[in-house]
Amino acid sequence: MDNILKTKELIKGLKGEITIPPDKSISHRALIFGALTNSKIKIKNLSKGEDCISTLEILEKLGVKYEFISERDLILNSSEGLSASKKVTLNCNNSGTSARLLSGLFSRCDFSCVLIGDNSLSKRPMKRIIEPLGLMGAKIKSNDNKLPLEIEGTKLKAITYYSPISSAQVKSALILAGLGVDEPTRIYEKTLSRNHSEIMLSYLGADIKTGQDDKGYFVEVKKSKLIPKDIEIAGDISSAAFFMVAGAIVPNSDITIKNVGINPTRTGILDVFKQAEIDFTILNKRKVSSELVGDIRVKYTKNIKPFEIKGDLIPRLIDEIPILAVLASKIQGISTVSDAQDLRNKESDRIKTIVDAFLSLGIDIKEKPDGFIINGCAEINKSAILETHLDHRLAMSYYVLSLINNQSMEIKGFNCVNTSFPEFLKLMDKLKN
Ligand code: S3P
Repeated sequence: MDNILKTKELIKGLKGEITIPPDKSISHRALIFGALTNSKIKIKNLSKGEDCISTLEILEKLGVKYEFISERDLILNSSEGLSASKKVTLNCNNSGTSARLLSGLFSRCDFSCVLIGDNSLSKRPMKRIIEPLGLMGAKIKSNDNKLPLEIEGTKLKAITYYSPISSAQVKSALILAGLGVDEPTRIYEKTLSRNHSEIMLSYLGADIKTGQDDKGYFVEVKKSKLIPKDIEIAGDISSAAFFMVAGAIVPNSDITIKNVGINPTRTGILDVFKQAEIDFTILNKRKVSSELVGDIRVKYTKNIKPFEIKGDLIPRLIDEIPILAVLASKIQGISTVSDAQDLRNKESDRIKTIVDAFLSLGIDIKEKPDGFIINGCAEINKSAILETHLDHRLAMSYYVLSLINNQSMEIKGFNCVNTSFPEFLKLMDKLKN
């Protein structure tokens, strides 16, 4: 079956420079906010992973036109606004970001729609957005707080919302809803989740302010007209993470990953690299459409130290935990992940799926309700067929696991990497020598 990847052994180190694909989170936002400019804009370096294409196709169904003018640059034309003549079914496929962000937007539009998704997305919790949007007056019917979501667009009212979880998807759904309301909507979170929506909206001239007070981090938005501006998207640190970990562990490696987004709300992995005393540097720091970008150089590091991930660090590296678990499996000593219970709500239950996979390989790992404890070792002693559960980040993490152990493994359902990173194997091959 072509959907099983049999990995091969690596002989020497990883060497050279790569440019990784554009950031998925920023790409979704460029499409959605771009579609709210009611104009023609250019989006440079858009992610063509399946998730972002789902967002693009949904917008197209609502009247937004687009044309790719090169491999990753497109002209987005939203001059006719968003509309639908009758209740329209919109498919988010595997993309939680599409489903959650667009629910916020569609709740205040003057049409009705049904948001559907694939089997995996249809099992993921939507109460986190249905509840606060309901407080704003949104009319959303769901299947027991899961997809499909039937949304009847209506006039919303402003709220102040204290989010029980630090989730950029929840925050952005409410921002998108609040952007259509005259009075200010304020959203609080205890720890700051990725702030790409806030940065892009300021860049596009929206009436938005952010800050911190005794109740937590807040963002406040109200009805705004967005200025049509071209948007350029930085490389995805969540995709860079797989190469960064491989580069740190495979002997003789010295790699540079160019043009990576290093917005501080996303660089928890760099904090972990510091804790672990991994040899890395950031070069050529600059800003691209208001987002911080740099080149990350990682060198093979001999005595990597165990690390502890918890608390405020979690939202800053939530998607990197599978690959950091792989890193922990090669570090002598005990590394821990805590406060990460929301990992159970991702494309798979990432706590359970990682624990099961590691146990099947003979890696010393203990499951906790909110994370795991890994007692790493130099070599893994077993080969196993690894299940991706169609979770792209597990697929790429297991590939790196096989690479750093110089062991051939079978990874079932590997093609799911296409949801975020279709070029993964090609770039990995470029660094092998
Ligand atoms: C995302 C936010 C994160 C992340 C997801 C993308 C976003 O989810 O895991 O891959 O683009 O807003 P949560 O904010 O719900 O944790």
